[in-house]
Amino acid sequence: MSDDIKKGLLGIVVDETEVSKVMPEINSLTYRGYAAQDLCEYCRFEEVAYLILNKDLPNTIQLRKFEKEEKNNRDLSKDLYSIIKKMPKKSHPMDVARTAVSIMGLEDKETTDSSEEANMRKAIRILAKTPTALAAFYRIRKGKNIIKPKKNLNIAENFFYMCFGKVPQKEIVKAFDVSLILYAEHSFNVSTFTARTITSSLSDIHGAITGAIASLKGPLHGGANEEVMHMMNKIKSPNNALKWINNALDKKEVVMGFGHRVYKSGDSRVPTMKHYMFKVAKLLNKDKYPKMYEILENEMLSKKNIHPNVDFPCGPTYYMMGIDIDFYTPIFVMSRITGWSAHIMEQHASNKLIRPLSKYKGEEVREVMLLNQR
Ligand code: SDX
Repeated sequence: MSDDIKKGLLGIVVDETEVSKVMPEINSLTYRGYAAQDLCEYCRFEEVAYLILNKDLPNTIQLRKFEKEEKNNRDLSKDLYSIIKKMPKKSHPMDVARTAVSIMGLEDKETTDSSEEANMRKAIRILAKTPTALAAFYRIRKGKNIIKPKKNLNIAENFFYMCFGKVPQKEIVKAFDVSLILYAEHSFNVSTFTARTITSSLSDIHGAITGAIASLKGPLHGGANEEVMHMMNKIKSPNNALKWINNALDKKEVVMGFGHRVYKSGDSRVPTMKHYMFKVAKLLNKDKYPKMYEILENEMLSKKNIHPNVDFPCGPTYYMMGIDIDFYTPIFVMSRITGWSAHIMEQHASNKLIRPLSKYKGEEVREVMLLNQR
């Protein structure tokens, strides 16, 4: 392939952004200038969602108004609940999320209005409703009744409540909330760039987020957190981990949860999420997965010098919380709706149709032969 082609846009800067800064050289990530790890320490996901969408952290009054708007929009239409009930039980929850957001677009009264104000309101409605749609499917496919959202719970608590009928202890909620903060935004990753590309033709936010969900589903991107858990369950015990990983590397297999296009000496989010994975394991007295985690991490580093990415600690953490594996990437969606929405609004504010070039390497020009001559 000729040198002027950068497959996968490797290393290509295509636009500017104010939403987040990924700094591999110092292993750091900031959302609107605030370090992600500090936001995990001092804020709840709702404060970070407000920050990413509104460019600064909220004060008490702003947060109360934002939370009220989000809570008031959590419930779904009767039609959407009934459509979710009709979805095939074997559907992947990522396809449920993609379809639900698409239907939210059909129902939304401001679908044709792509002004910043309307997009902000639509972003909050999508942020509010997506957990409800996912939790409804979580219950329905197990033959259980839907549990409607509660307004006196925050986003993390309410998701557990709608899925399981109760809110777990606060340390579990905190670890889940931290994962939502860490998943919220990460500059021009493939699903965010998908959202920006769709927006660049001036299409609507529901369509852009529907496309972004489809992109995030892939195992090279968000789908990796589910694949990490499938891998760990195949390994079964920490005693098998060394043999398993070396066998995979010998077969040149891609080990899910490791590597990153931008971070080459470690994903800045991993130390924080790994800390909370260990906290959850200690609390629930489940040390199998953290032990397996360490063995796999050390072997990938020593053999390939490849570091884990944020999906690696998230998988086992959600598993220890008792969440179904195929809901891990949908949880990523619940959070990344904030980042996608901020980028969609940023693209609108300074748009240029995204349309790269390609280098033709097919047949040269040739004459068409009539059918009876071919
Ligand atoms: C996310 O971009 C973002 O910001 C994404 C994200 C976000 O917040 O939005 O951070 C979230 O998507 C994290 C990534 C989750 N994906 C995975 O865990 C899947 C496994 N990872 C790999 O597929 C890979 O690391 C990618 C796709 C993530 C990045 O790969 P690149 O940058 O395209 O690099 P590459 O695939 O060309 O790999 C370079 C070399 C290759 O070896 P050689 O062919 O040069 O000998 O490193 C090797 C690869 O084989 N390699 C791996 C590996 N990752 C890279 N080898 C084994 N296992 C891996 N996981």
